[in-house]
Amino acid sequence: MYMTRELAFPPHFVWGAATAAYQIEGAVQEDGRGESIWDRFAATPSKVRNDESGAIACDHYHRFKEDVALMAELGLRAYRFSIAWPRILPTGRGIVNEKGLDFYDRLVDELLDHGIEPYATLYHWDLPQVLEDEGGWVNRDTVEAFAGYTGIVVRRLGDRVHNWITQNEPQVVSWMGYGWGKHAPGRTGPSNAIAAAHHVLLAHGRATEVIRRESPGAQVGITLNMTPIYPASDSAKDEAAARLVDGTLNRWFADPIFRGEYPADIVELYAEHAPPIRDGDMQTVSTPIDFLGLNNYSRNVVRADPASGRPTHVRVEEAEYTDMDWEVYPQGLRDLLVRVHHDYAPKHIYVTENGSSFRDVRMHDGSVQDPERQRYLEGYLGAASSAIAEGVPLAGYFVWSLLDNFEWAHGYWMRFGIVYVDYRTLERVPKESARWYSGLIKQQASAVLQV
Ligand code: FCB
Repeated sequence: MYMTRELAFPPHFVWGAATAAYQIEGAVQEDGRGESIWDRFAATPSKVRNDESGAIACDHYHRFKEDVALMAELGLRAYRFSIAWPRILPTGRGIVNEKGLDFYDRLVDELLDHGIEPYATLYHWDLPQVLEDEGGWVNRDTVEAFAGYTGIVVRRLGDRVHNWITQNEPQVVSWMGYGWGKHAPGRTGPSNAIAAAHHVLLAHGRATEVIRRESPGAQVGITLNMTPIYPASDSAKDEAAARLVDGTLNRWFADPIFRGEYPADIVELYAEHAPPIRDGDMQTVSTPIDFLGLNNYSRNVVRADPASGRPTHVRVEEAEYTDMDWEVYPQGLRDLLVRVHHDYAPKHIYVTENGSSFRDVRMHDGSVQDPERQRYLEGYLGAASSAIAEGVPLAGYFVWSLLDNFEWAHGYWMRFGIVYVDYRTLERVPKESARWYSGLIKQQASAVLQV
């Protein structure tokens, strides 16, 4: 097990927390915001646990000042948030809703006033519903709509926001949203997912070009969810099964960005559903970036099913699991970071999300004790620190999440925050893990001063 004492991070390491617009903002009908695919999906019966939605969520739209003050009190140096496309362009393209831009303008100013560096994600899953009605990410036209939206946002905020993340988790957007139907917009079929993935990657490339043009000094990156995949044994069959899963989940997204091509073995696997690539696309997708954002929570152990030969997930019985039923496996983050550095060599890497959900409850004295979360963070930060010691250019870490929030199809049941939210009163209560994280940030800062 990794111990806190051993943690050592470089002097300018960025310490932050992350959130996403639809998960915390609420105020879905305010100040001219348009409908997003998540409003529509959540309003469709049985799509989200208890038919919950982000309509109110943490009401961050009205309470952002309180939330920024809390971040400052905890000593956070950076905040990763996302911008809601339907607040800026209620119909996806065309008429700009100034009030939407004004909100992020106020948020950014508030952060900077408190010495907190903004890291803005342009797409964290809330596509304007009108664009979905025209085919969503399966439709190539959405790429240009995204480039247009990016230009509008960067022209307004680019003088103060210096770090941009184009897309959050293309694999989840395409497969959960368009392949398996578990997320908005709830469509299914491999061809849809593969086309959506291609357009999301292309949109990332186009947005990168736009940001470079509008804000030449900015740092631009993309966030990928990458899960280390381990074969259940060293048999050739299990290893082949693990490689296949790694190919569909990880390499399918990282190879285009860093190598300008889809992985050949998976192209073959998807032979009947070839991505809709046009001339020049792969060059756009692989436009050089400044950093890679990685979201990592767990690992997968895979074996070849003896009967069918198909890759199958293996549950490690003796392991610890979070409420999401994700195995707690800190070593996986170290392995992933070292592998990504070795295989793709991004200039910088940020862990843009890492965290855990547990059934937190408020005690009679008002405190929220979450020792499992603190242990989880200690383990994963230990793993991050090991990777740095091995030469990985890890530049920062954002815990998911600042606040308990609307966890997509799980609704409010999953609590990922280091700050507890009482959904009846919307009161925020820092959990013990937040105090611990805050202490760690301060301790790392004073260690730097002593050097
Ligand atoms: C990631 C998402 C984030 C949150 C965490 C738990 O896939 O990017 O919004 O839901 O998982």
